[in-house]
Amino acid sequence: MPLTRRAALAAVLLAPLAAGPALAQTQITIQHALPVNSHTGAAASGFKEAFERLTNNRYRVVLQRNDNEREMIESVQIGTIDCTVTSTGPVGNFVPEVRIFDVPFLFRDRAHAHAVLDGEIGQSVLKRFEARGLVGVIWAENGFRHLTNSRREVTSPADLRGLKVRTMENQVHMRAFSTLGALPTPMAFSELVPALQQGTVDGQENPIPVIVANNLNQVQRYMSLTAHVYSPQVIICNPGTVGRLSAADRQHFMTAAKAGQKANRDRVAADDAGGVEELRRRGMQVTTEVDSAAFRSSLAPAFAEWERTLDAALLKRIRDWQ
Ligand code: PAF
Repeated sequence: MPLTRRAALAAVLLAPLAAGPALAQTQITIQHALPVNSHTGAAASGFKEAFERLTNNRYRVVLQRNDNEREMIESVQIGTIDCTVTSTGPVGNFVPEVRIFDVPFLFRDRAHAHAVLDGEIGQSVLKRFEARGLVGVIWAENGFRHLTNSRREVTSPADLRGLKVRTMENQVHMRAFSTLGALPTPMAFSELVPALQQGTVDGQENPIPVIVANNLNQVQRYMSLTAHVYSPQVIICNPGTVGRLSAADRQHFMTAAKAGQKANRDRVAADDAGGVEELRRRGMQVTTEVDSAAFRSSLAPAFAEWERTLDAALLKRIRDWQ
């Protein structure tokens, strides 16, 4: 055998010895909605990259897409998957204390939301997940939600009257849209595009990163920058998954979760910055002049209800946060 071929064969045969014994890898499965190339994918990939690196690849993190967030949370609860990155859409049905963050016009801007969620208030709500058989790991975000529809330009609540709007499976959002005169139709995100195509619903509401990543411009002509509610996301895990980690790996887990949070928020900021222009370029008619004061005053009966049914003192603390 010529020397070069013999050397190549030896290299192949000896490679496993040079690499040392094969590492036993533990797999962690994370499901998230939307494509990997999106802000939810950024949270999951940011976590994956950091956790695998910090644990010297003793863990392999597998990412899977699932556009049904309720189903993902149920799977985490029963332990068929380890973790999920989900919006708070359906989370209040599992951990009712989360609903407070779904109240419209609660947060002034993203900085306000980040400070509340990362501070004492957000952390104490994350602790409430334990009683529901879940671990609330860290807050990430979807961003401010805006309205799109296929019927007409919407600048005030009067334009919403009678519009069938897909909402998340979220009591607070549904109450908000019915108070505004729309017909809220809750469904999983996985059902949204067919529902828009078939005319089961006229519109939907989601942050710009979601509208861009899912080409909703192909099924929706009008977008109004209503910014009617901030939409948090949260990384939720199964208690068994977190409980099995050594103390050191748990620290790596939290460091990785923070890396995922940063990647997610950076991506939302970038998508928000360029998204409106991109959607205009794709042919959407974007309305920036929205009568926000009219939306807030039309929501008065719902606000009064949330003062009674949610924690009024906490709502005030969140609103007053400086
Ligand atoms: O509209 C939703 O269901 C959520 O905003 C989404 C798109 C799944 C992202 O969390």
